[in-house]
Amino acid sequence: MDFELSEEQQMIRRSARDFAHRDLLQDVLERDAGAIYPTRHVKTMAELGFLGMNIDPAWGGGGMDNLSYILALEEISRADASVAVILAVHNSLDCYGIEQYGTESQKEKYLRPLASGEKIGAFLLSEPEAGSDATYQKTTATEMDGYYLLNGTKNWITSADTGSIYLVIAQTHPELKHKGINAFIVDRHSPGISLGPHEDKMGMRSSDTHSVMFTDVRVPKENRIGEDGFGFKFAMKLLEGGRIGIAAQALGIAEGAFERAVKYSKERKAFGTEISNHQAIAFKLADMGTRIEAARNLVYKAAWLKDCHLPYGKESAMAKLYAAETAMYVTTEAVQIHGGYGYVKEYHVERLMREAKLTQIYEGTSEIQQIVISRAILNEF
Ligand code: CAA
Repeated sequence: MDFELSEEQQMIRRSARDFAHRDLLQDVLERDAGAIYPTRHVKTMAELGFLGMNIDPAWGGGGMDNLSYILALEEISRADASVAVILAVHNSLDCYGIEQYGTESQKEKYLRPLASGEKIGAFLLSEPEAGSDATYQKTTATEMDGYYLLNGTKNWITSADTGSIYLVIAQTHPELKHKGINAFIVDRHSPGISLGPHEDKMGMRSSDTHSVMFTDVRVPKENRIGEDGFGFKFAMKLLEGGRIGIAAQALGIAEGAFERAVKYSKERKAFGTEISNHQAIAFKLADMGTRIEAARNLVYKAAWLKDCHLPYGKESAMAKLYAAETAMYVTTEAVQIHGGYGYVKEYHVERLMREAKLTQIYEGTSEIQQIVISRAILNEF
């Protein structure tokens, strides 16, 4: 068993760490307070080759392995998870989905601009009444002569406004339930698409989240992904990989808070000594560090399985479940260690705590991960 990262993986990690320190940390508090989209930073991620980094160079991507991408997400999330989620949806869902399941002409038209970072991707699965129960799709894709007509509403869509290539999941044959669902590549600027207001979120405030309404939106037939009825399986396959990305994000958030808590505990004095000398604090640090190490091993293992083309659905759900719970635990303890200072924005840990909460919710709540894991375990024995 080799836990050493390759030279290339270490290089990607360094490059992401530099970007996070040099660029993201400078204005993260301002962007969080004002819910300001990180336009400049997304452009830098394109220049650094992070957008589309796993895509085959034949399509203009970076050709890097999945673990390298996970390391980049982890480093970026230590500084600013709002930027990481834009990267995660773009790479894990849109780029991966079109590269794996798209036709050559879909790749030429849509994957190329995604792989170069010229265009940003969004993934539209959740609906007002279909969150955890993703089979309950109410958005319809009615088959017409040469095209589909989309009608319905999607909720909680990351990069809804700034993204220009949508992957939309919709129901074509309601009588077939999940087997009647399709997936489509949709141009965000198609006539009939409108957005709800910018969501004023608790955390991840600078990513752009809206609901999206479709009214008689025409989608060419050639934009359907896979066979008729493949849409639900497509969404589930994408989420398997997406969950490793969110797990890496949770891991980075936990590490960011942990680093700050350790540093603070060695500087702050109480009862005549640095607070790290009190077991009440030292034992917290021990538990936080141990859980982070366990989460890191789960996350890297899931990423490695994906790189080896081995099954990773159970492991990605385990990694997401545990890393998200760890992020919530570690950030809460980091606020506690900081005392009153932890409760103000300047010290970052309250922001990290708000960001951690979302990792327990999106791309499947912790309870959804438990469903996926328990079903896999029950099938194994
Ligand atoms: N790969 C391939 N196929 C899969 C699959 C997978 N990982 N998981 C399920 N399927 C298939 C099943 O085999 C089954 O197919 P058949 O009928 O042909 O056998 C079909 O899909 C239905 O599966 P289930 O019976 O297991 O479906 P279910 O309704 O009981 O549960 C679920 C499925 C796991 C709960 C699923 O609904 C789920 O993951 N829900 C959460 C949705 C979610 O994560 N949403 C996140 C939104 S995206 C987001 O947050 C992006 C963002 O902007 C950040």
